Amino acid sequence: MSEDLKRQAAAMALTQVQSGMRLGLGTGSTAKHFVDLLGERVAAGFDCICVPTSEVTARQAQSLGIALSDLDALDRLDITIDGADEIDPVLNLIKGGGGALLREKIVAAASDAMIVIADVSKLVKTLGRFPLPIEVNRFGLGATRRAVANVIAAHGAEGGLRLREAASGEAFVTDGGHLILDAFFGRISQPEALSRDLLDIAGVVQHGLFLKMCKTAYVAAPDGVRTLQSKV
Ligand code: A5P
Repeated sequence: MSEDLKRQAAAMALTQVQSGMRLGLGTGSTAKHFVDLLGERVAAGFDCICVPTSEVTARQAQSLGIALSDLDALDRLDITIDGADEIDPVLNLIKGGGGALLREKIVAAASDAMIVIADVSKLVKTLGRFPLPIEVNRFGLGATRRAVANVIAAHGAEGGLRLREAASGEAFVTDGGHLILDAFFGRISQPEALSRDLLDIAGVVQHGLFLKMCKTAYVAAPDGVRTLQSKV
């Protein structure tokens, strides 16, 4: 059921894609449906050029014959289509459950529009139930971890911090060679201030709060796909 909803949201996003567009391709199980659907159109002759937000998405797109490029070759992108872990009422997001947050944010920031696709389970009143991913440099992990712990405590985190592990039990390593600390908030009441405070820590590379970046979200529910628009 959930996969079907994700695919419906992805199909809606595909209606916004026009021939010749430069697209950012997101990462995760919902974005994967979009890439599959785009691949079907490309196989039928549709023309576009895409920047993937992860090595996983790059491999999927390549296998489908989708033309890929990078942000060194393309100045701006028209639209990035990506999933999200949480979406609040003003379309602020938590992303990075799949560990691709850094490239996802760089690609979305280089795009004229970011479209988020999701099933209805991702809608929340307040961000923070989903653990916030914080990408950190490997160097000085202990010091960075202590600084992050202080910041999240000051922002009322109900839980602690956990170094993300891969299925092997080893530390999860991002495409950029960094580590991820997952912060358990419960509720993030001041996302802008939290964003600033985290980015002030020297060892923090990026975090999964995507604030004022998404203008449109297609959210699939059993009774249909809703279009949500940000007013900011
Ligand atoms: C990847 O790093 C994430 O930001 C994903 O976009 C996000 O976790 C949503 O993934 P799903 O579509 O698999 O829920």
